[in-house]
Amino acid sequence: MPSHVVTTATETYTCTVQNGISAQIRDFLPAKAGKVFVVTTPDVHQLYASHLAGFEVLHYPGGEPNKRLSVVETLADQMLARGADRSSVVVAFGGGICGDVGGFLAAIFMRGVPVIQVPTTLLAQVDAAVGGKTGVNLAGGKNLLGSFHQPHAVLIDPAVLRSLPEREYRAGLFEVIKHGIIASPELFAILAERSADVLAQHPEVLEKIIDESVRIKAGVVSADEKEGGLRRILNYGHTLGHALEAETNYSVLLHGEAVAYGMLAAGHLAVRTGHLDAATAAELSRVIHLYGPLPPVPGVTAEALAGHIYKDKKTIQGQTHFVLATAIGQTEIVRGIPHEAVVAAAAATLA
Ligand SMILES: NC(=O)c1ccc[n+]([C@@H]2O[C@H](COP(=O)([O-])OP(=O)(O)OC[C@H]3O[C@@H](n4cnc5c(N)ncnc54)[C@H](O)[C@@H]3O)[C@@H](O)[C@H]2O)c1
Ligand SMILES: [Zn+2]
Repeated sequence: MPSHVVTTATETYTCTVQNGISAQIRDFLPAKAGKVFVVTTPDVHQLYASHLAGFEVLHYPGGEPNKRLSVVETLADQMLARGADRSSVVVAFGGGICGDVGGFLAAIFMRGVPVIQVPTTLLAQVDAAVGGKTGVNLAGGKNLLGSFHQPHAVLIDPAVLRSLPEREYRAGLFEVIKHGIIASPELFAILAERSADVLAQHPEVLEKIIDESVRIKAGVVSADEKEGGLRRILNYGHTLGHALEAETNYSVLLHGEAVAYGMLAAGHLAVRTGHLDAATAAELSRVIHLYGPLPPVPGVTAEALAGHIYKDKKTIQGQTHFVLATAIGQTEIVRGIPHEAVVAAAAATLA
């Protein structure tokens, strides 16, 4: 059974990638676990009710606008009303939103109970469920209220992706491509050479790309739980990606699609600043486009994107840094990139 260990200052746990594992939650509960509360959305519950038999199910309505503290409080009230105590366990069964909400609920319910993450979107499997970040949105911004709460276990079942809408699947693949670019020529080669199998969810190929992604994320998180340094490489493609999500009011692009645009821009920027050769950048771009099409973003200008990036980063630490690829599988954090270079890279991406 392919599994990867995450070790942080406070926790050690395994992330297991295995077809069918989402039906075996009981085998992974902590010893002396009390009642089990599954946080899931009604759509996912309906699809996988048989996997959750015998557990208390709490419905999270789903969607980014509901990822709010008030919803967590409602879920906590429901837990208490159904007999939860300090021995209770939360299972977050769903996409990344469920993982963040369920994880945060577990982090603060009676000052913390264990959570088992069972991610059911590709994005959640290769990214959100591994690493212990949990939280909800504020009116003023995404994920601004939260905590680190490492899971007791992460159960990753590639088979559940068959019911995922195709666009959601492809959006998750862009985060897989990101893992290849930042850390794994082998993973990148599979994505470059076997796109038909990847898109068709060929079982062996799918398990392999998820497994390799989880290995990379687990390794990075173990080395740097709280984003002091290494964890920043996971932000590859995210600087311009976040700007694009914001400029389109989070309503045009799925997160992975925005990251795809961001990775295209990072390629242009790396060539322009002398960090990457043009042929490798062209290959990165070719592979990203194998998993398109990306929805168009009419009306967004390069100046607006670059402006957003500088505004955003100044409030954080006064200096803009970009994660740039220097080769397939290697990155460098580059500081002090001139504004004009960012505008030009954004323009080349939007062209
Ligand atoms: N904690 C982290 O480190 C981290 C990292 C990345 C993203 N995130 C968060 O993840 C969220 C996005 O997650 P997402 O992209 O998974 O979106 P999502 O959770 O909204 O799921 C997408 C849609 O797919 C449905 N769905 C989920 N699994 C399904 C399945 N197997 N079959 C059919 N339908 C299914 C969901 O109900 C939902 O409608 C964002 O809120 C983001 O902030 C967190
Ligand atoms: Zn991301």
